[in-house]
Amino acid sequence: TAAEKSGYDWFMRKEIFEQPRAVADTLLGRYSDNGELVLDEIRIGPEELRRVDKIIIIGCGTAYYAGMVAKYVIEHWTRIGCEVELASEFRYRDPIVDANTLCVAISQSGETADTLQAIRHAREQGSKVIAICNTNGSTIPRESDAVIYTHAGPEIGVASTKGFLTQLIACYLLGLFLAQVRGVKFGDEIGAVMDELAGMPPRIQRLLDGADEVYGLAHELIDQGDYVFLGRHVGYPAAMEGALKLKEIAYLHAEGFAAGELKHGPIAIINPGMPVFVIVPPAGRDQLHDKVVSNIQEVRARGARTIVLAEEDDGEVDAYAERVIRLPRVSTLLQPVLAVVPLQLFACELATALGNDVDQPRNLAKSVTVE
Ligand code: G6P
Repeated sequence: TAAEKSGYDWFMRKEIFEQPRAVADTLLGRYSDNGELVLDEIRIGPEELRRVDKIIIIGCGTAYYAGMVAKYVIEHWTRIGCEVELASEFRYRDPIVDANTLCVAISQSGETADTLQAIRHAREQGSKVIAICNTNGSTIPRESDAVIYTHAGPEIGVASTKGFLTQLIACYLLGLFLAQVRGVKFGDEIGAVMDELAGMPPRIQRLLDGADEVYGLAHELIDQGDYVFLGRHVGYPAAMEGALKLKEIAYLHAEGFAAGELKHGPIAIINPGMPVFVIVPPAGRDQLHDKVVSNIQEVRARGARTIVLAEEDDGEVDAYAERVIRLPRVSTLLQPVLAVVPLQLFACELATALGNDVDQPRNLAKSVTVE
């Protein structure tokens, strides 16, 4: 009903706009006064966590892309080797997992059969499992050794939005927690990252306040049938998620690529007039920034319509961008939390303008309980 949607036309749009609150709720009570991270139910002892020599992150769809971000973050902060794998592939390839492997299962619903079967397989091999989940008491957390709940509130729209952002936050918390438990020394980076995380809700809100500009773009591009999304480092999974949103609810052909791969094939599909979204890493502090700016030039030279997501004071993109969507300043690892928001708004607006039911897109289910 309209009341349940609090005045929004679709649950999905409501959930996009709930993200500042959802992210704040994921962070609530996680950082104690004495500077220690506190997670929900960690029924794995510190000794066991210190023994971990490999982490495998599993998930499906959007949760898998959150896992891709988690790999960059967890490896950077803990120096433990980390793999990300689609849950549906995991147990059928005879994966190497043992008692020193930590499995991280990401699932909004906690009921996805592929992910559940994967964690069962991991536990049979003696591996410990930590679930990142939004649904209290669901099957995946019940069958895991520990759980970090995202506390985003019920997500009704089939295409995940606040589920994704809060999964990212939980992944940062897990990375910091593992670093803390293992005594990895990175100065007072834990405190600094927690402060930056605490500042994310108002930054997300600023992006939402700019929704009309993104909506305008969606209406301008309404006749386009093929989309490319480019990103690099943690911007790569954000690009994949942007493309997935368009597939899921707008039923459009959209592909996400690692920007560095462009020259190895994808650039061949760039047609004049094709919309190409590019997520640019923070300027100045990041050597990848300039490489991604070159990618914008390359697709622009082939006639693409370049829609560039770049930091607010990044003037270097202006010359090659047909449109710039400004992102608040934040450190590289946290940028996906912001970059994905305009992509969600774009997909939601385009799909509704096309007359699609964005809450229940064709052929898809909110939680897929069969393999
Ligand atoms: C389904 C949904 C996707 C979701 C995926 C994983 O396919 O349509 O939106 O990303 O399942 O769901 P989960 O609940 O495990 O995060």
